[in-house]
Amino acid sequence: MNYVILISGRGSNMESLLDAQLPGRCAAVISNRPEAGGLATAQQRGVPTAVIDHRNFASREEFDAALAAEIDRHGADLVLLAGFMRILTDGFVRRYEGRMLNIHPSLLPLFPGIKTHAQALAAGVRLHGCTVHFVTPALDGGPIVAQAAVPVMAGDDEASLAARVLVEEHPLYARVARWFLDGRLRLVEGRVQLDGETPITGALHAPDVR
Ligand code: GRF
Repeated sequence: MNYVILISGRGSNMESLLDAQLPGRCAAVISNRPEAGGLATAQQRGVPTAVIDHRNFASREEFDAALAAEIDRHGADLVLLAGFMRILTDGFVRRYEGRMLNIHPSLLPLFPGIKTHAQALAAGVRLHGCTVHFVTPALDGGPIVAQAAVPVMAGDDEASLAARVLVEEHPLYARVARWFLDGRLRLVEGRVQLDGETPITGALHAPDVR
């Protein structure tokens, strides 16, 4: 299977996906920002890159049409959003329904949107984490595939909490992408279906399960 990774910035999740030797081919890394640091990282690994700069488009619809054309040009079976910071139109999301995943830095449905670590600190939660979910038109509201939790420690600030969560994002996303590419994971009538044994039990994916 072919997959593409969409980024907007640093691309550490992208890097960990590329390093995970997934059972598929990364056909392209696509960014909506020419200055995204992850583009150079992808190029260093020999992965084709493309930039679809959202600032060149008059509307979200036109941007999304150009993005879809680029994704489809690479014959993508799976679209992985990895720090891709654009809200996508319903039409775009429906086109890739069941084959587009996102990683979000909170334990959804808590703290959708941006500034998730600040939201978690303000709410005073003692557990925080990250979620991989199928993308649906509801922002950060699609069916949850897997989550990893971390403690919130006394003295945490946004940066320390973000760093603790990021450590869990990388293996979690690679794991879920592998399930999909192995043909074990799918969306059926809006519900997540995962075949076979998985060491994930209960609501939380223990951080030390790889
Ligand atoms: C990650 O925390 C991701 O979950 C969020 O934005 C951050 C992107 O980091 N959506 P990177 O670009 O993958 O390093």
